[in-house]
Amino acid sequence: MYSNMLLIHNWLRWFTLIACVGGIVYAMKPAGPQSPDADTFELPGKGWDSYLMLAVDLQMLTGLILYFGLSDFTKVAMENPGSAWQEPSVRYWAILHAGAMFASLLTVRVARVLALNAPTADVAQRRRLVWFIISTIVILVAIPWPFLGNGRPLFRF
Ligand code: HEM
Repeated sequence: MYSNMLLIHNWLRWFTLIACVGGIVYAMKPAGPQSPDADTFELPGKGWDSYLMLAVDLQMLTGLILYFGLSDFTKVAMENPGSAWQEPSVRYWAILHAGAMFASLLTVRVARVLALNAPTADVAQRRRLVWFIISTIVILVAIPWPFLGNGRPLFRF
């Protein structure tokens, strides 16, 4: 179960990163002409927002299952919270990775809400772009790339 969940969580990272790229590419496109009397506006590639949100939600779900049910690292942190900050690998998984990824989930949500409430389509596009870039940077920084101290394989089979 532990290894299967790691496998799913690992592969979902690629789905998340593809959705990040899609979201950013479409947020860079000009919004195009909008009907002046429309209540809402059309944004290019809006579907990518949903894919990105779905991806980070699924990462959150599988991350929480690992965190509270399966991971040996977070088990140590929960049994002895004082040790979480002292032991580097426990600190990484129990605090840094989970905390930063939770922040990325919030920034994707912020992008959506700010774009929905924007006064014009151009402003909505700018907000999407800025917040998707922030989300992507946070995710890229918090991924356990193989060359890091707590690195993990790029692909699991
Ligand atoms: C965009 C969001 C996220 C990405 C891209 C991501 C990515 C990853 C990757 C690539 C791994 C290594 C998997 C492997 O060993 O093959 C991992 C492990 C892990 N992640 Fe995430 N993660 C995300 C969100 C979260 C969240 C929100 C949590 C906690 C609530 C979390 C908790 C964990 C835990 C506990 C591990 C496993 C540590 C162990 O080996 O026991 N992740 N994550």
